Amino acid sequence: MVEKCIVFDLVLSEYPFPIAIAHQIVSFCFTSPFITAGSKKNIAHWLHHPNFSLRIHDVTEPIMIEVDQIYHLACPASPPHYQYNPVKTIKTSTMGTINMLGLAKRVKARMLLTSTSEIYGDPEVHPQPETYWGNVNTIGPRSCYDEGKRVAETMMYSYRNQNNVEVRVARIFNTFGPRMHPNDGRVVSNFIIQALQDKDITIYGDGTQTRSFQYVSDLVDGLHKLMNGDYDGPVNLGNPDEYTVKDFASYIKDMTKSDSEIKLLPKSTDDPSQRKPDIRLAKEKIDWAPKVTVRDGLKEAIRYFQSVLDESGEIIPTGPGAAKPKKIKIQEEA
Ligand SMILES: NC(=O)c1ccc[n+]([C@@H]2O[C@H](COP(=O)([O-])OP(=O)(O)OC[C@H]3O[C@@H](n4cnc5c(N)ncnc54)[C@H](O)[C@@H]3O)[C@@H](O)[C@H]2O)c1
Repeated sequence: MVEKCIVFDLVLSEYPFPIAIAHQIVSFCFTSPFITAGSKKNIAHWLHHPNFSLRIHDVTEPIMIEVDQIYHLACPASPPHYQYNPVKTIKTSTMGTINMLGLAKRVKARMLLTSTSEIYGDPEVHPQPETYWGNVNTIGPRSCYDEGKRVAETMMYSYRNQNNVEVRVARIFNTFGPRMHPNDGRVVSNFIIQALQDKDITIYGDGTQTRSFQYVSDLVDGLHKLMNGDYDGPVNLGNPDEYTVKDFASYIKDMTKSDSEIKLLPKSTDDPSQRKPDIRLAKEKIDWAPKVTVRDGLKEAIRYFQSVLDESGEIIPTGPGAAKPKKIKIQEEA
């Protein structure tokens, strides 16, 4: 059993594996009005567990703590969120990863980085194997995230080669599930929230771009296996079940029995035209493959978003353009 491990993420730390594998979990997040999609509510039921503690810490600042394993997930992942403050996003992936690697080196901890399919950019190879080097615009609106993760991967292997830090790199493809923030801004949450309210389901572009969607419990299982296995090269974790975005919108519309119209809006800059993981390496090296079908995962996500809507009333999901939070109006006394 791992004595102590830290997990930098409030969404994924909700899922049960950390308590099962670690004697003590320290979960971290960074809070700001818009950058964080994690919510304390997601881990409320763990807060009093004797093996769990939560600390609010920004990974761009160094930290001293004794741990055996570090799951370094800190980073906004949704385009409108990471584009809101691109400088902070790149600092999180660069300074944050250096700080975590420095910690891993000092305390001899094994460290797992959650990299992304975005490092493949707009891929010319389909599906994407780990050997593909990618096609990324260095100066586009997505580059703060894509290039931040690419350099984070480079840092991981530099620390491994120079300082013998044990590293693991997961290249995660689109993941969804309950407890996502309703304003996450990615297709799964946007489409479900729009469909459940019979609002227009908005697609940016002509909808022919493809995506592959994996359910969160499969990802957590994959991260756990990768962390505790022997393989230290980058590994794709995703579900190869591929949809055009337009078909996916229709699928959600049918599942929610919605009266929404599907509406096409202008394409967002540098939006990848296709995405599908080649997961042969994950099968071979860590004996992992997704178990939850997209349909079953969507049923859970729809149930969750319906309960959020029941609780909060109308929700207008976040669009792809970075939008600053509205200033709170302070009511003047009459
Ligand atoms: N969800 C996906 O589809 C997906 C796909 C590829 C990669 N990933 C990667 O997985 C990780 C988690 O993704 P997610 O969807 O849960 O993201 P999210 O945006 O929902 O959550 C990000 C978390 O990181 C924390 N965070 C952000 N900046 C921080 C900082 N400077 N210091 C400390 N904490 C900080 C936030 O508080 C939040 O809890 C990210 O690294 C992301 O790049 C996710």
